[in-house]
Amino acid sequence: MIKLFDPYISKEEAKATTKVIQSKFWASGSGTNNVRKFEDLFLKYTKSKNCIAVNSGTAALHLALSLFNIENKEVLVPSLTFVSTVNSILYNKGKPIFVDVDSKNLCIDIMDIKKKITKKTGAIIIVDFAGMPANIKEIKKIADKNRIPIIEDAAHSAGAMYNGKRIGSHVDAVCFSFHPVKNLAMPTGGAICINNKNTKESKKILQSLRWCGIENRQNFQYDIKRLGWNYYMNEISAAVGLVQLKKLDFANKKRRSIAKKYSSKLKMNDKMPYSDDCVYHFYWIRVKNREKFMKKMYEKGIETGIHYNPVHKMSYYKSKIKLPITEQVANKIVSIPTHPNLTNSDINKIIHAVNDLYDC
Ligand SMILES: Cc1ncc(COP(=O)(O)O)c(C=O)c1O
Repeated sequence: MIKLFDPYISKEEAKATTKVIQSKFWASGSGTNNVRKFEDLFLKYTKSKNCIAVNSGTAALHLALSLFNIENKEVLVPSLTFVSTVNSILYNKGKPIFVDVDSKNLCIDIMDIKKKITKKTGAIIIVDFAGMPANIKEIKKIADKNRIPIIEDAAHSAGAMYNGKRIGSHVDAVCFSFHPVKNLAMPTGGAICINNKNTKESKKILQSLRWCGIENRQNFQYDIKRLGWNYYMNEISAAVGLVQLKKLDFANKKRRSIAKKYSSKLKMNDKMPYSDDCVYHFYWIRVKNREKFMKKMYEKGIETGIHYNPVHKMSYYKSKIKLPITEQVANKIVSIPTHPNLTNSDINKIIHAVNDLYDC
């Protein structure tokens, strides 16, 4: 079976993990050793102002949004995303306002942002869908005019480029996921790159929030000034992350070369565009009969997926909003594999199978 996602690992990750296990120092809320090393290197890699490691992309989004006072405010967010993007607004007592996507890249639609922004808007969340950076320049113009922050959900886009710079440094807070299927994989992990005005103060707050609110620690004494969570990264994940970070650019290059082949060889028009800036966490296509297509692909030994069932359609969010592009796309979209473990024969097999079946 050709898997949709498959971590790109070698013996190095196993060696790094064993070293941590044998050291018996597996975790610390204060974020020392491998966690600090990872933060320092990821900071350099992204050239952001500050970086803080956490234990998931969900935690990153939750904590990043808590830096901006969104309580009772509206937050613009695409519905075509993983639920964590939207839940982070609710964790911080904000109100999600679902925004449609651009049919070409499936990132948040600028025109719809303009329509939905009001005096009640407290922030905009953008998602780099499948590793394709959103149109940050245009969104920034709107955010600056309205004096609101942008939070970027970069769960899919570790290593992606925008305007000649790596994702991580362009907006107020950028949230990464290092879930095992992601381009940079760990057992569990995430990070927030912060670039807002009070970066140093923000980092101090986030360090406390990721460890149950603990601050001003001296020997065995500490204080709690805010309600925090148990969100710190463990040493084993950080050790794996340090190895993964070294090969991220190489792995992303492989993903891009696979996407380039799909882009030129797949016959349908409805497919993900090619860009040298994108890191192709997966590659999306739109097919005629999704259920049949996915079943037949599976029978041929190729796993596919759906990213995503739109969040505004889920009962918990009680949304009656209409998002024409999102709704149209959501019934047709299928994700196909781009992970660096694919062989040339796998890639050719996928191309032939998709070309045979997309119209079935
Ligand atoms: C777009 C998006 N945002 C947020 C997340 C949450 O990340 P995590 O699973 O590390 O909590 C994911 C992970 O699947 C994601 O794909």
